[in-house]
Amino acid sequence: MNIGFNLDPDTLTTHGVVLGRTGSGKTGLITRIVEQLPAYTAAIVYDIKHDLSNIAVDQTHWNVHHQVSVQPQAGSILDAIKAKPNLRAFLEHVPPTRWLARLKDPPSVLGIIYKDFRGIPLETFISHREREKAIVALLSLPRQPSAPPLDITGRSIIRSEPTGDQLQTIVDALGTPLLPASTRLRLLVVIDECRNLIPGNGNPATKQPLATLLSRGRAFGVGVLLGTQHPMDICYRSLSNVGTWFIGALRGRDLHRDLRHECNAYVIESLAPRQFYVPRYKEVLNVSTCNTNLRGPIAWPQAT
Ligand SMILES: Nc1ncnc2c1ncn2[C@@H]1O[C@H](COP(=O)(O)OP(=O)(O)O)[C@@H](O)[C@H]1O
Ligand SMILES: [Mg+2]
Repeated sequence: MNIGFNLDPDTLTTHGVVLGRTGSGKTGLITRIVEQLPAYTAAIVYDIKHDLSNIAVDQTHWNVHHQVSVQPQAGSILDAIKAKPNLRAFLEHVPPTRWLARLKDPPSVLGIIYKDFRGIPLETFISHREREKAIVALLSLPRQPSAPPLDITGRSIIRSEPTGDQLQTIVDALGTPLLPASTRLRLLVVIDECRNLIPGNGNPATKQPLATLLSRGRAFGVGVLLGTQHPMDICYRSLSNVGTWFIGALRGRDLHRDLRHECNAYVIESLAPRQFYVPRYKEVLNVSTCNTNLRGPIAWPQAT
């Protein structure tokens, strides 16, 4: 594929990360890579900002989906609670507007986890017994599918962030007839604006399956391509398996020290839009013009 230089698509089985501030051309580079994928490669593109959907305007073989619901189900709420026994961290991970409405009695749920609510001891307005009843009710809520079934062999754009369950579905398919051992790039999973999905601190439901895809995907031809404008907010330990970094205009001090070591901060700070330094090739990539018309975020009313 020609993205400004020739990139062997199979290189992406060791994954790629695109960094750069807003306007540096991350979405343009990701679009260019996706539109040049070979016919043998399936793709699942998470279009959180609704601007990658432009790919499907000009190319006809894409299925475009809204996530039916990204609201966490009982199971993922419990996972989040278990993983983050701290009110502030939990609320950051799951904004209250997204889950309060789903629970019949939010204070009782909070009370199971926390001894006080906004400084008021819970015992004064909800008894221990009531809290126990609530946790039993919460545990008995069924886990419902929250997202469209994933098509691992076709080309899909999902206009939402991935759920942990969806990424786990891909992990579970590794080594099955859907994703047998391969040296070719069989499936590219693209997540632009991945900031909160694989953070260095915290443990959202997406982190573990994404880390597993990064460590085990290669043997099965599964590549992950991530984009973010917040390089400090991603987990570099999980990303130590990434073979190709595309580093666009950024403040040098925002780079993790391992990356800073590999590139000259002066070079990074002086990059123009659509230029990315690629440590793997020690070259500055001038991204070629997309065939796709980059209209910015677009509505997609007919998405299913
Ligand atoms: N490869 C490209 N081909 C054509 N236009 C591009 C390309 N890359 C960036 N652009 C232009 O620059 C604008 C900003 O780039 P974008 O990729 O959206 O930045 P970022 O995702 O880093 O915020 C795009 O809307 C588009 O007009
Ligand atoms: Mg972008």
